[in-house]
Amino acid sequence: MPGSECQEDPSSVQFARDINGFFRPLGETHQMTNLQPEPATAPDAKPEIRNRAQGRVVECNGTEAKISAFAQKSEETGEYWAVGQLISIQTGDNRVVGLLYNVENDYVAQNNGIEGAIILSVELSGEVRPDQHRGFVFSGGISNYPHIGAVAHRIRKEDLSTIYKASDKSAVTVGSLSQASDIPAVVSVDALLSRHFAVVGTTGTGKSTAVTLILHLIAKHKLNQRILILDPHNEYTSAFGPKANTITAETLDLPFWLLNLEEFQQVVFRGREGSEEELDALREFIPKAKSVYRYGEGPGVRRKSSNGASFTADTPVPYRLADLLKLLDEEIGSLDGALRRLTLRHLKARLEAVIADPRFGFMFGSHNATDRIEDVLSNIYRVPLDGKPITVFQMSGIPSEVVNSVASVLCRLAFDIALASQSRVKTLVVCEEAHRYIPADVSSGFAPTRGAIARIAKEGRKYGVSLAIITQRPNELDPTILSQCNTVFSLRLGNDADQDVMRKAISNGSRSTLAFLSSLADRECIAFGSAVSTPMRMRFRNLAASARPSSQNVADGEDIDAAANASLTDIVTSMRGSSVETEPEAEDWVVREPESAPAVAANEPASDAGQDVSLKRRSLLRRKTG
Ligand SMILES: Nc1ncnc2c1ncn2[C@@H]1O[C@H](COP(=O)(O)OP(=O)(O)OP(=O)(O)O)[C@@H](O)[C@H]1O
Ligand SMILES: [Mg+2]
Repeated sequence: MPGSECQEDPSSVQFARDINGFFRPLGETHQMTNLQPEPATAPDAKPEIRNRAQGRVVECNGTEAKISAFAQKSEETGEYWAVGQLISIQTGDNRVVGLLYNVENDYVAQNNGIEGAIILSVELSGEVRPDQHRGFVFSGGISNYPHIGAVAHRIRKEDLSTIYKASDKSAVTVGSLSQASDIPAVVSVDALLSRHFAVVGTTGTGKSTAVTLILHLIAKHKLNQRILILDPHNEYTSAFGPKANTITAETLDLPFWLLNLEEFQQVVFRGREGSEEELDALREFIPKAKSVYRYGEGPGVRRKSSNGASFTADTPVPYRLADLLKLLDEEIGSLDGALRRLTLRHLKARLEAVIADPRFGFMFGSHNATDRIEDVLSNIYRVPLDGKPITVFQMSGIPSEVVNSVASVLCRLAFDIALASQSRVKTLVVCEEAHRYIPADVSSGFAPTRGAIARIAKEGRKYGVSLAIITQRPNELDPTILSQCNTVFSLRLGNDADQDVMRKAISNGSRSTLAFLSSLADRECIAFGSAVSTPMRMRFRNLAASARPSSQNVADGEDIDAAANASLTDIVTSMRGSSVETEPEAEDWVVREPESAPAVAANEPASDAGQDVSLKRRSLLRRKTG
């Protein structure tokens, strides 16, 4: 019967302060003061062992409790006290739950002959209480604090399930609890999407794979959700098969006129600060070129465009570069001042150079001067979805000096489209290596990208635009963006500065959880925030190779195989970031059951898990070489 081990009435036990200053049940204090060592083999060993599995509260404040208990050998009961365990403390009908974060010898008691006396430090995190309609429920607050002498013991399985059970309909299973591998770790997709999430961890701990797993689940359960992945390592395409629409430097079609002035400036000045005079000239002549395109040439149009009333340099309407160059030429011809003429000549030369650069073909292709905004947006933002809700934007082939501009346009448009569609087009923007675009140092990084991501972080929730931030260096990430991520999955973090950032991000009642950050195993994380009921230490499900991002090392045998078949042309094409044809897949994605299988959540279709499909790895190289 649940709770049977706690049915001893604490009020019937008398307490006295021991020489350590702690209250102890009178019997134990008596033992101590009389220096009576326990018999080595007690005749009534059984009840004694059960008793030893319990402790008693000897100190408690608003956030923590200390518990006096006995060390046990695990062979005795198969149980022992160890940091990381959850502890429950009986207070009336409720059970206060806390995380055991420190175990130490109680030397004072031990010196007084009480063998194995230890003190447990527990951080209190919430309580399990009976509910008329739902059995037992868990809540983060504590209504009744434990009294001195309250009985504490390791948490029972039912309580663990109560604490971590799915609290809403959109819950999905992302793994299993580290403490009990048969209890599923569930997160709420709605909370992930409405309040942004972050995945942080040292390199190689499993961030990209964890994100892929979460994205698979989102795509499966939220049929109207678009996902735009900014993929700096070209690793995500292979994970999503036919569900992904991949955009590479070769297939990208982003008309230059979609860029606002700040973004366009990055392109024209090749990632450097441009001269103020040249920038002013762009600000002046781009609106004019837009007017010429829209209204045609003529004196009336000139007048209209010259007062700048119709357009600004930021308005996303098309114009022709030829018109811009012509306008600059005319201005140069009509000028007397040598300085301004020189400025305009420089600007014109810059524009001509960038237009002629084949690497910028995706912006300045001849077809880009027509108003095809619908085509461009429909391809990138999946309107209509056409069975491909995920756009993987492979960034490694984009010229490095304009990567930031492109990222900025994409994030800006994701927001604008959601706004303009009245939240019908909802996009999750996934920023891999986010510290690159939104670094903590405000002076580095590209202001428009930071602005576009910050706008999603602050206001995206209202319009259905969400962020997934992935970084191995949380310390180098803009803290205001991280603070907007209401759910964080923190994989192992070795660096003190990174751990500090997490310490600040997590609420008071769960700080001790973070002590484990440096010792987490690969694929293991501490998840905290609005998508989980209480911070949980969990292990991500095992994602089958075919559904993982392609960053993994190729196994030795395959390596030789692939290398023998690789052609230099293929390698060069791959280096340039060309798209990879995806094989049709029988399943959308496959999760391989972990060795110790976690129960699949009841709300998840059975097909979702447990199919060990021994699919061959489909590394980029291998598939290209067939
Ligand atoms: N959930 C998982 N299921 C199966 N394999 C996993 C899982 N998580 C991680 N791995 C394995 O661990 C390796 C590293 O994972 P991953 O590439 O996701 O790490 P990362 O933290 O993104 O690394 P980096 O910082 O270099 O990008 C992968 O090759 C993958 O094989
Ligand atoms: Mg990664």
